[in-house]
Amino acid sequence: NSENISVIGMISSIRESKNCYFIELEDPTGRITCVVSKTMKVVEELVCDEVIGVTGKLRGRNLFVDRIYFPDIPSNDKKIKKDFAIAFISDTHFGSREFLKKEWKVFTKWLNCELGNKKSRELASTVKYVVVAGDIVDGVGVYPGQERDLEVVDIYEQYELAASFFEEIPSKIKVIISPGNHDAVRQAEPQPALPKEIQELFPKNVHHVGNPSYIDLDGVKVLVYHGRSIDDMVMKIPRLKYEEPHKVLEEFLRKRHLCPLYGARTPIAPEREDYLVIEDIPDVLHCGHVHTYGTGFYRGVFLVNSSTWQEQTEFQKKINLNPMPGNVTVYVPGGEVVRLRFYGG
Ligand SMILES: [Fe+2]
Repeated sequence: NSENISVIGMISSIRESKNCYFIELEDPTGRITCVVSKTMKVVEELVCDEVIGVTGKLRGRNLFVDRIYFPDIPSNDKKIKKDFAIAFISDTHFGSREFLKKEWKVFTKWLNCELGNKKSRELASTVKYVVVAGDIVDGVGVYPGQERDLEVVDIYEQYELAASFFEEIPSKIKVIISPGNHDAVRQAEPQPALPKEIQELFPKNVHHVGNPSYIDLDGVKVLVYHGRSIDDMVMKIPRLKYEEPHKVLEEFLRKRHLCPLYGARTPIAPEREDYLVIEDIPDVLHCGHVHTYGTGFYRGVFLVNSSTWQEQTEFQKKINLNPMPGNVTVYVPGGEVVRLRFYGG
């Protein structure tokens, strides 16, 4: 009766009482109520619908938990080393009045090795890939009253504008574009790549993938995900905040899922297979969406949340979202991480 048992299950409900949490775990064979003392701080990190393991003692019908295990990732010690760089950007929001045209021009000038000191130009010359994690355009009808924030009100014309700005990137650089919630694809995740007629607007060096996607850049495995569920995670887990978006990315890896929480702000399509599970361990996890910037490493995986090219909109002011625009991460796999700032001096 007092022996230790272990259970793995999906969290179906979380209830808080004065001294403990009641966590309901389920699997296809049944369910069990787990009692977790509030002294176990990690309990605050749990969200509904994630899969965890617990150990503890069974008393009556309840399991009194003494340890919680997350699926987590093993350490990525592949030790890749490359002589090229990858630039990570997202949330360009072409078509918005707030799009930072001047700053974008400076960025593409840098990519063309026409800017900065010798070292900076050398780095620019090694950039082989630019990865874009969604929200290419601002879209139409994404939020109430958006038309007031738009310079271009036609979605097709927004992509034409986007394509013309991508023309400024040297053609020897491969650009990979994945969509976000402002783009012209279905909202529910996983999102397919942009439609053919839109893809055709872009120059030949631009490749389109879905959201999320695993992409292989000469042996560097990049998991690119727009990051809509960052909102849900920040709302649910007290430790996480918009100013440190890479900490949320760390949680995705620990929970082995890009949207651990079902039924909140992130719509998920009912597919036969869950494409948001992090099955393979990436070398890089790249997100955007929240318009803030942060990088870090977690168990050997490089994490990057890549800011935006849009200044704060009226709508963002209202919801108290403070963007950190014009930041670009340039990463040489196995080498340095450089943060370039094109906004605000
Ligand atoms: Fe965005």
